[in-house]
Amino acid sequence: MKKKLKIVISCGPTREPLDPVRFISNYSTGTLGLTLARLARRRGHEVVLVHGPIEVPKDLKVRKVSFETVLELMKALRREVPRCDVLYMVAAVSDFKPLVASEFKIKKGGRFLNLSLVQNPDVLKSMRRFKKDKIYVGFSLESKHLFKHSYKKLKDKDLDLIVAQHVDERTRPFGAVRIGATIIESSGRRVGFDGISKEALSRYLIRRVDALRVARRKRAV
Ligand code: CTP
Repeated sequence: MKKKLKIVISCGPTREPLDPVRFISNYSTGTLGLTLARLARRRGHEVVLVHGPIEVPKDLKVRKVSFETVLELMKALRREVPRCDVLYMVAAVSDFKPLVASEFKIKKGGRFLNLSLVQNPDVLKSMRRFKKDKIYVGFSLESKHLFKHSYKKLKDKDLDLIVAQHVDERTRPFGAVRIGATIIESSGRRVGFDGISKEALSRYLIRRVDALRVARRKRAV
């Protein structure tokens, strides 16, 4: 019988508050993460879904942990990742947040409003210390030099696989759409898909991760 794995999937956007009514966020809908969670669960794995502010179907029978800010996401992953076998980091993390979140609603005044932003931590990179023999899957969005930049992220963040997707004004991978994606592995192996559904991509990823784990175990004996 195949070993049941503990799989952590992060998905959805982060929100960084600007004041009590506004935030900085992104277009992520969490579709791919939810699909991965459903298929991994169906395959018999134990799934923890760490999700941003998205609608999570009630019939998705997995443990759910919610986050809004990047720091909340990081805190949740610090709790869950050390005990997992596989991490899919699909969450769309805001690289920047307002330097200060105003306690009160910001009133309009002059014609311009200057915002100071400060960099957020790289959550996935901070998970390197828990890596050991876990499998980490990252997701990369790039408008230019897709392979070069995605491969660099794979190495910097100590990933086994990265799903590289092109994004620009006309190519938007958000929601229930077909996407173009290239999966790059730490060995340099690359597999490309053109116009693939998120369901089919998730199925491929789950099978591939299972295969990588089997290969790794064989090498260990
Ligand atoms: N990621 C993260 N923490 C961040 C930024 C990204 O954990 N502060 C994760 C994402 O969840 C994703 C991977 O890192 O799995 C790559 O994210 P991406 O936004 O494509 O790249 P960045 O690392 O942010 O690099 P850049 O902004 O230079 O494209």
